[in-house]
Amino acid sequence: MIVEHLSLVDFRNYATAELSLHRGPNVLVGKNGQGKTNLAEAIVFLATLGSHRVSSDAPMVKDSRDFGVIRARLSVGSRKVLTEVQINRQGSNKARINGSPSKTSELPRYAHVVLFAPEDLQIVRGDPSSRRRFADQLLIQRAPRMAAVLGDYDRVLKQRSALLKSARARGIRGEALTTLDVWDDKLVALGSEIIDARLRLASDLRSPLASAYAAIAGADHQPELEWALSMHGGDPEEDAAGTAFDAADRSLSLSRRAEMFRAALQAKRTQELDRGITFVGPHRDDLVLRVRGLPVKGYASHGESWSVALALRLASAELLRAESPAGDPVLILDDVFAELDADRRQRLADLTVGYEQVLVTAAVEADIPEPLHRHVVHISDGSISDDRDPAADSEPDTDRGRDE
Ligand SMILES: Nc1ncnc2c1ncn2[C@@H]1O[C@H](COP(=O)(O)OP(=O)(O)O)[C@@H](O)[C@H]1O
Ligand SMILES: [Mg+2]
Repeated sequence: MIVEHLSLVDFRNYATAELSLHRGPNVLVGKNGQGKTNLAEAIVFLATLGSHRVSSDAPMVKDSRDFGVIRARLSVGSRKVLTEVQINRQGSNKARINGSPSKTSELPRYAHVVLFAPEDLQIVRGDPSSRRRFADQLLIQRAPRMAAVLGDYDRVLKQRSALLKSARARGIRGEALTTLDVWDDKLVALGSEIIDARLRLASDLRSPLASAYAAIAGADHQPELEWALSMHGGDPEEDAAGTAFDAADRSLSLSRRAEMFRAALQAKRTQELDRGITFVGPHRDDLVLRVRGLPVKGYASHGESWSVALALRLASAELLRAESPAGDPVLILDDVFAELDADRRQRLADLTVGYEQVLVTAAVEADIPEPLHRHVVHISDGSISDDRDPAADSEPDTDRGRDE
């Protein structure tokens, strides 16, 4: 798919914005703090129903406004789809598809996006939450219904943890424990489904990750990824190294996994009541990454860490491309070239230029490798001005419409 046109109202620093985009590479250039990432974030939101930068929606609404709107005309195969979401500071968001009200969870069916950003280094170096977020955003793109499953799981987890805390405070046993059993049922049902989908994701990413890593690093360091699961007794949230991973897990049935999950909760119950924390479930799991047999976190060099991060994004793109009837995901390379050495820059450009649509943002135009340096748009303080692009039309370049 491609984004043909993006319109924003009261989104981040844009009162209004109109951005027309081309098939193939597009470049957004502007100094820091002008609104390049905000444009990327708006497109990401349509694909994942969330921001890659903040966990709540309110910061995306322009200051002192009640709601913001993201509208995009997509070209999906031979179809045009008009997608729209209103992000409300308070209350739930509202979506429209081709003008008709629709569930927000329908949006990711049309918009597929893979974003590369400097923060991606956190996926390999940061806390387990960064890796869970990486995986879960991809789960939603593979199967939009996972947005609801993940949302429901979060709610159940909050309720259950609140109950644990109040049980601890009041020393309640008996009846509170019966209520706890009810929450356990929900936690286990939703959690097992998430674990299942994540294990499948890791297994499907394995081969594209290996190819992407070799292509981007120019060397084969045998990258691996596998989930460390809290239901095996350890606590990957604190220390993945001590957690056993059972390869046979991947082929467990959902009901067998649910049984194991429940047993692990039972085993931790005293500890949970003592601490008021839910210790078992996908919210405590970690996606362990290795190169050359060693964990990336704590062992890999800066360059290797970048290669893993880029390879994870490239592998995600390959996976979505292979699976989606809607065609390629839109690739957004937000400010990444400034982070990379010349070799990785060139390889990343060569590996991404073949996608249906690529958006590149940069503060310095010269950082963008040649094959991606097309259709330049300038961003300055929340306003967008189109460069006239001599490659795209035959009229002489008069530099019209450029306000600097
Ligand atoms: N909710 C908001 N309302 C108004 N301005 C915002 C809001 N959120 C962020 N901004 C502004 O957006 C700018 C950052 O835009 P960003 O897209 O991150 O810049 P960059 O071009 O460096 O990627 C900052 O000036 C910030 O103050
Ligand atoms: Mg930015």
